[in-house]
Amino acid sequence: MDIKSELSKKGFVFIPKWEPDAEIEYLAKKFGKIVKVSDYVGHEIIPNTQKIRPKTQSNSSKNQYSGKFGLDAFPFHTDLAHWSKPPKFLMLRCVRGFEQVSTKVLPLKYILDQLFELGLRRAVAQPRSNGSNTKSCLLPLLFKINNQRCIRWDSLFLEAVNDNVKRIQHVMLKNETWDMAIDIKLVDSGDTLILNNHSNFHARSNIPKECIDRELERVYFN
Ligand SMILES: [Fe+2]
Repeated sequence: MDIKSELSKKGFVFIPKWEPDAEIEYLAKKFGKIVKVSDYVGHEIIPNTQKIRPKTQSNSSKNQYSGKFGLDAFPFHTDLAHWSKPPKFLMLRCVRGFEQVSTKVLPLKYILDQLFELGLRRAVAQPRSNGSNTKSCLLPLLFKINNQRCIRWDSLFLEAVNDNVKRIQHVMLKNETWDMAIDIKLVDSGDTLILNNHSNFHARSNIPKECIDRELERVYFN
């Protein structure tokens, strides 16, 4: 499989059992430059390679997805949507996986027309206030980097500045939208999903109790 061409054609690529013993950063470097997350204010203690394990609500901080949703499904989002330029790609690698859990991928093109009708072109959000008095910046949901169209969405870390965003939020949380997504299952060691974070939304299904030991690794790259 030509991973690069598949990724640029489809916007995401799933590679089963891909070099299970290789380090995730070694693999991601083949495609781009690893994002040093700790360079960003407020993210100083986050390593470049993050271990992702399901957490119950009570075991997580409120400003994390697990703190809000626990083992329930995570809604569609863009990773780091509250950054002025969210990373272009994310790579997820399975360390320990389960057939019962899926990563949902929703290509923007599936719902773009619908979002345009709701006013995507003028939809503006801002990072959700974390209680501090810091002034926040305005973040258009649709923006361009190097003349390429990019989208951001997150119902937890962004809040609406105008009604366009409220209408879009309604659609993003609808069951019909959930059902449109593609299910990717990271089950075997080395199963890898590379996703263009500017042209796809993603989500996670709920975690049944017996799958609490699920573990993925994640890196971002541009
Ligand atoms: Fe995510």
